[in-house]
Amino acid sequence: MFMPRALKVKRPVQAPGHGLNKKSKTDQEDCDQINLQASTQKDEAWEDLKTQTDKGEHLTETAKCESAAQSSSDDAEEEEPVKSFKKSQRWPEPGEPVCVMCGRYGEYICDATDNDVCSLECKANHLLQMGIKPGHDAFNVKDKNTDGRTSQPHHVAVNLGTSEAGYSYREDPFISGLTDEQVERIRLELGIKTEGKDVRRPIVEFEHCGFPSLLSGNLKKAGYEAPTPVQMQMVPVGLTGRDVIASADTGSGKTIAFLLPVVVRALEEAAHGVCSPLGLILTPTRELAIQIERQAKELVMGIPNMRTALLVGGMPLPPQLHRLKSSIKIVIATPGRLIEILKQKALKLDKVKILVVDEVDTMLKMGFQQQVLEVLEHVTEEHQTLLASATIPAGTEDLAARLVHDPVRIAIGEKNQPCANVRQILLWVEEPSKKKKLFEILNDNKLFQPPVVVFVDCKLGADLLCEAVAKVTGLTTVAIHSDKNQRERNRILKGLLDGDFEVVISTGVLGRGLDLVNVRLVVNFDMPNTMDEYVHQVGRAGRLGHRGTAITFLNNNNKRLFLEVVNRVKPTGSILPPQLLNSPYLFEQQKRESQKNKMQHDDILVTKNNLLDIIKKHDRRKK
Ligand SMILES: Nc1ncnc2c1ncn2[C@@H]1O[C@H](COP(=O)(O)OP(=O)(O)OP(=O)(O)O)[C@@H](O)[C@H]1O
Ligand SMILES: [Mg+2]
Repeated sequence: MFMPRALKVKRPVQAPGHGLNKKSKTDQEDCDQINLQASTQKDEAWEDLKTQTDKGEHLTETAKCESAAQSSSDDAEEEEPVKSFKKSQRWPEPGEPVCVMCGRYGEYICDATDNDVCSLECKANHLLQMGIKPGHDAFNVKDKNTDGRTSQPHHVAVNLGTSEAGYSYREDPFISGLTDEQVERIRLELGIKTEGKDVRRPIVEFEHCGFPSLLSGNLKKAGYEAPTPVQMQMVPVGLTGRDVIASADTGSGKTIAFLLPVVVRALEEAAHGVCSPLGLILTPTRELAIQIERQAKELVMGIPNMRTALLVGGMPLPPQLHRLKSSIKIVIATPGRLIEILKQKALKLDKVKILVVDEVDTMLKMGFQQQVLEVLEHVTEEHQTLLASATIPAGTEDLAARLVHDPVRIAIGEKNQPCANVRQILLWVEEPSKKKKLFEILNDNKLFQPPVVVFVDCKLGADLLCEAVAKVTGLTTVAIHSDKNQRERNRILKGLLDGDFEVVISTGVLGRGLDLVNVRLVVNFDMPNTMDEYVHQVGRAGRLGHRGTAITFLNNNNKRLFLEVVNRVKPTGSILPPQLLNSPYLFEQQKRESQKNKMQHDDILVTKNNLLDIIKKHDRRKK
């Protein structure tokens, strides 16, 4: 069966086995109503909010878009048939889907794998490569490697309400056979800390989950051979339906840690008709949502009826609405676009069984918080919630705790610290000398390792610095921020990952969650506003154990952060500039901190001096 991805519907063409969905090259400029004006994530929230405020106007425009798309859909009925051979397909434009087999324009979606293909020829080769036969049932096949082990009953078996043939997590006998001391030693050695009642034991290998064979095979194919510490602990906890608040270093594999429980819960039930997903993942930026959808697709590849939908601003709405019409299991969304679609009643969240809020600390800050709460109103009480970030400060954790029920808290390593794989260099550079210093770094053979990501604090600054770097150094330089349209942003991000650019100047849009695997050097040209953002930006330089370097320029403009810089960066062994260590602002902040600590301490400790004060404070007659 062939079905359309976008509104430009092709006439159905029957093909043996799995079908293709036709998708259109969308009228991006005509339909794109999102006003890209912001540079940071906060700005992005504003932007999405604005989209909602302008809803009346927006809906009219959307209707126009839809009718435009519909008419092109009607026209399409008369268009050329589905392409048989790849040679008759054109090459893609930036931002357009790409055929997974030959790199041409991915005009169709292969139903069986949800992947983009350009023609029947590539679809056939793709299915052959995937070893998929028509009607292959992913749910009933157990992983051969684990068959023997998982078929035995274990005292910790948890059934998530699946049918007999369905998957349910059972603790592997190897894990059950460990003593409590051995389990604690594993946790200690891997820096896994947990809090909560009846916390499930960590797995040591993915095979211990006994996943269905297709899922297990997809994990391997995608290169996930052995679980990272956060995955070891979070996957079994998540698979047994518990709510989780997880914090682990940048680049430590949190995405797969939450995606596996999402995929498994989506496997449990047939899709509830159109527009009713079982899993929902919220992210602060569009780029992150795109990245997570790509990883989700890798995991569900070849598993029948496991469609994902990406709902993000800045991309045309009609194809996203259309996509929702084909039984979607997992939605990955930014809150603004999601709310817009909810208001149009094109999506229902009442069947959502599992909700993920990635980068939860930023999602619960001003700007996003209201939107997240609004989305939650559409989800029923009984859902499972997974919250994740590399930084979850105490204040946010209190807020996060209100979103979960009887959660398991998982923390890997030291909480809220910059990733240890990234060498941090802090340089005292006065504002007028920053550009010169950056040029020096880019000219330094020892430090310069392209592609370099340079973080700045505003969009204009990004554009101006981009011009200056290109002119002075001659390096291939590009700026990315939220004033650029999404197609351009996608092109730049792809170019960065493909190594097309030597320097990318970015506002906060690339700061969180993005897996910039080939980036080894990050320069914080402007110190971020908070140390949490610093941790995330620095984290772009060292993914999953790879070593990287982060150079940060610091001066008195950042005095507000001096104490936190010292408290968080010093323990990593980095050398701090003397101007910072000898700063009167730092001394003042240290003095205040020690007074605060003393007061808290005095509050607890009863001494001869404070005894009367304490009695007065707790005088029962006053109450
Ligand atoms: N088990 C694994 N085996 C091999 N590679 C893995 C594994 N888990 C994750 N990765 C890879 O590690 C990289 C970082 O993973 P991921 O993006 O999930 O990190 P993260 O913890 O979410 O980081 P951030 O806090 O920056 O969002 C990715 O390239 C991912 O594909
Ligand atoms: Mg992440």
